[in-house]
Amino acid sequence: MLITKDIKLADVILQNYHLIPIISRFGIKFGFGDKSVGQICTQYHIKTNFFLEIVNAFNDKDYKPYEKLKNMSLSLTVSYLLKSHYYYNKVKLPFIENLIDSLEWEGEDNLKNKNVLKKFFRQYRKEVNEHTANEETEIYPYVLELEQNYNNTGKVSVSFLEKLKTKSIKDYADTHDELNSSLLDLKNIIIKYLYPAENKDITVQILIEIFKLEKDMTDHTELEEKVVIPVAEKIETELKKRY
Ligand SMILES: [Fe+2]
Ligand SMILES: [Fe+2]
Repeated sequence: MLITKDIKLADVILQNYHLIPIISRFGIKFGFGDKSVGQICTQYHIKTNFFLEIVNAFNDKDYKPYEKLKNMSLSLTVSYLLKSHYYYNKVKLPFIENLIDSLEWEGEDNLKNKNVLKKFFRQYRKEVNEHTANEETEIYPYVLELEQNYNNTGKVSVSFLEKLKTKSIKDYADTHDELNSSLLDLKNIIIKYLYPAENKDITVQILIEIFKLEKDMTDHTELEEKVVIPVAEKIETELKKRY
């Protein structure tokens, strides 16, 4: 189903509950009655076209939002990506870690198995943390600065010109593969190797949460690789020619 501005937001959620974290990332709260997507976006001062591209991309794996997003301000995509980082680091990863903590095995295996799982999970969490922190302090600010200077016809600062000489957005391009391989290790440990815990419902919940997180992060990475990096690269090339 293609989500349009005239569809009721409640119906969007009812047909795909996976969109719940996405709309919450935009700051939208429940209790929206029969309001349409367009009305909600106006109420929350969200750019409707941008919102539609993000929810449609998440709703339908064949929907490719990249061309349209490339024509919108990068600041919109970056602000959405920042909210996703917060969700991964402050909400989802601690939640999964708590679930792992509540797993139980009989006897001495309890501590041993829990520690194995926790070790892998902590490693993964640390990698996500470092990856997102690097984007937040290095990549996103540079990308935003590129866009600002591109749109600005006035004088550019000396510090920006210096950055333009020394930096290249290409250096940031492929840092995502490692994250995926750590997640695969974690899934394999639970699915294939670890002796099953007593509370199997929690094991199932952990796996489902990991798969959901993975899907969310895949979409996130696609936005970075197919929108942010190429658009920033184009702007960077233009600016390097200009100055
Ligand atoms: Fe990111
Ligand atoms: Fe990333």
